[in-house]
Amino acid sequence: MLTLTRVEEAMTKGVGLGTSPGEEPARGRPDRESRETVGTVTVENPRMVCRGVNVFYGDKQAIRNVSIDIGRNEVLAMIGPSGCGKSTFIRCLNRMNDTIEGCRVTGEILLDGVNIYDRKVDVVPLRAQVGMVFQKPNPFPKSVYENVAYGPRIHGLARNRAELDEIVERALRKAGLWDEVKDRLHEPGTGLSGGQQQRLCIARTIAVNPEIILMDEPCSALDPIATSVIEDLIFELRTQYSICIVTHSMQQAARVSQRTAYFHLGDLIEVGPTDRIFTNPRHPLTQDYITGRFG
Ligand SMILES: Nc1ncnc2c1ncn2[C@@H]1O[C@H](COP(=O)(O)OP(=O)(O)OP(=O)(O)O)[C@@H](O)[C@H]1O
Ligand SMILES: [Mg+2]
Repeated sequence: MLTLTRVEEAMTKGVGLGTSPGEEPARGRPDRESRETVGTVTVENPRMVCRGVNVFYGDKQAIRNVSIDIGRNEVLAMIGPSGCGKSTFIRCLNRMNDTIEGCRVTGEILLDGVNIYDRKVDVVPLRAQVGMVFQKPNPFPKSVYENVAYGPRIHGLARNRAELDEIVERALRKAGLWDEVKDRLHEPGTGLSGGQQQRLCIARTIAVNPEIILMDEPCSALDPIATSVIEDLIFELRTQYSICIVTHSMQQAARVSQRTAYFHLGDLIEVGPTDRIFTNPRHPLTQDYITGRFG
């Protein structure tokens, strides 16, 4: 019988392991060879380094041997047809997949050189360092102020109320929401418009001093005006944070990102500078997607 450790080792290195006839396939065994990624997956001085990442839901493999770096002060767009594994992959980056029953991640993901899957890593501070904004704005059923103050309070970032007020104001300003909410800080966050709620969620993420902000289709529930406000914000936030954004809109990827990663059926097919990916994709699968022949 194969031990899990050998399977994991094989998957991390991307090598195949044979199963003898009649032998049960080991749980988490790669179901086929991964496709080799076209383009440069590395960046100079990366903030996050992912190597040989595989994700399984039970026996089903959703991500195959993905390696990619995330740079400083860059927006990395992740695109690809529905079901190709974008959300699954982005959730690996702050161990959000830990919360999904039956989901297993192998390979290596380093944040500033530390493997975030190391037993010693506490996921609570990790999820502050690598914050996440979801598709549907999800403010807590609390006031605007409390939505932003909650994180800094549980992470002990303020010594007193004045400091907390300052953190809340700074985060709301960075999220481009302060002027719209400064007179209604104590009203429910859920009473804001959809676009304002999404900026509130971004303020909540920023308030705990993240290094990386993950966004999974952050504009898909918003109208074009609210979308454009968020896109401008993403562009500005890049000067202070690394941002990974999953989007179904190629126009959005082209507008906000510097690098683009194209996923297809769990494989990372191609990575490169956004303008190059959109004007001169090298892999036929990327070409098909970009030109609207697939997806
Ligand atoms: N919780 C889960 N349990 C089992 N399978 C899952 C789970 N979440 C996702 N999957 C499967 O993993 C694969 C990748 O799904 P994922 O949601 O990551 O794709 P996606 O690229 O984000 O798609 P979309 O663009 O539709 O959001 C799909 O086959 C999906 O059915
Ligand atoms: Mg998704």
